[in-house]
Amino acid sequence: MESKLRQNIVSAASDTAESPYSKAVTGFKNYWYPVLPERLLGSKPKRMVLLGEPLALIKRNNSVYAIQDECPHRGARMSLGKDEFPGTNTIACRFHGWTFNLATGSCVAALTEGPSSNVVGKVRIRTFPAETRKGIIFVWMGKGSPVPLEEDIPALILTPESKIKVRFRQVYGNWRQHAEGSAGGHFFMLHRDSIALLYHELGAYNAISLAQLQEHDPVDKRPYLLETNSDYVWQDDYPTLGNWPPKRLWRFSRPPRRRGARGTSTVVQGIKHIGISLPGFLRVPHFPQNNAVYYEWYIAIDSHHYLYMQISAHFPKNIFQRIWGTLWYNIWAGPIRKGRFNNQDKGVVRDGTEFEDRMGVHRPTSLFQPDIFPLMWIEMCNEYARGEGWRVSDTNPKWREVDSKIPIYLEKDDSSS
Ligand code: FES
Ligand SMILES: [Fe+2]
Repeated sequence: MESKLRQNIVSAASDTAESPYSKAVTGFKNYWYPVLPERLLGSKPKRMVLLGEPLALIKRNNSVYAIQDECPHRGARMSLGKDEFPGTNTIACRFHGWTFNLATGSCVAALTEGPSSNVVGKVRIRTFPAETRKGIIFVWMGKGSPVPLEEDIPALILTPESKIKVRFRQVYGNWRQHAEGSAGGHFFMLHRDSIALLYHELGAYNAISLAQLQEHDPVDKRPYLLETNSDYVWQDDYPTLGNWPPKRLWRFSRPPRRRGARGTSTVVQGIKHIGISLPGFLRVPHFPQNNAVYYEWYIAIDSHHYLYMQISAHFPKNIFQRIWGTLWYNIWAGPIRKGRFNNQDKGVVRDGTEFEDRMGVHRPTSLFQPDIFPLMWIEMCNEYARGEGWRVSDTNPKWREVDSKIPIYLEKDDSSS
């Protein structure tokens, strides 16, 4: 166990500028991403920049198409293009009228050169596979043909049993800062003054910080890095400083997900622990409401912005639970938890990005035990990122458990092999 931890720490800390993770400044490409609630795409095309590339989402006859938002002629935005031939599933560039079939991307006319233009059939605009499920548009921007959507999008979102609630915003910062900081001990500190937790008693730290790579998650059928911490230490004595945190009368409730038997987390839809998965989304049980499962994607826009896409799956058992749940979501769980609470994470992503810019590298620097989570996440990406990671096959699934209570050594020593 000890030597494994040290190997992990050493390999992650020596993550080089050439590693898949270091190179993924604008995200991992070969995945489906949720990009927009379908109801927000009207008859006008919508421009988005994702994973460093501009794309235009276009709805025609209730089908959604995604094409590169640059005309191959001189780069005019196709999202400003025109539907000159309604009913034909084409879009005409507003500059010189090159007209493209939305499904195939092939150029079917160059209007300002006449019907016999010789670019017809010879030019193509890039198209991206797009699918709409549960009211959300998903896009594949990777190489080659896409994997089935079900491989990338959690089953609890796609299942007809779940009611889906989406919130999203554009955030300043590099997506990796959010992924790395999504777990790993900040909860007790950063979120202490959150309105969402005002009446909750918060601990001081986890008695043991654990991260566990689960190569085949039984619910979502994919690798997850789970935060499997032991129980909270509610208060402790810090030498020369005193007890922390102070007890407050108004903090009368312990966080909902800690209310299980003997203080352990309770299971919801088969999920017990917070976990992160590729290409960069976190899964949280009992958030933003009890019995819901929450997912948040960090989808790079460019090196300094990302789309923060929050999707929660709710499982009301009857119409009353559904009405009450929706009401509670609209007045509290949505704006206060998914909104204000998660904006605290957003703020430190900004700070981390500026820090990284000034340091000139993307790498965790000084390490303490809870950093086991970001370090293993980096390692997981380097190993598993589809089409980019170092691992080529996983015919030998295994579990790896790391106990971060073991002291961390950054230099390789004899006992680490
Ligand atoms: S730039 Fe699009 S047709 Fe010329
Ligand atoms: Fe957080």
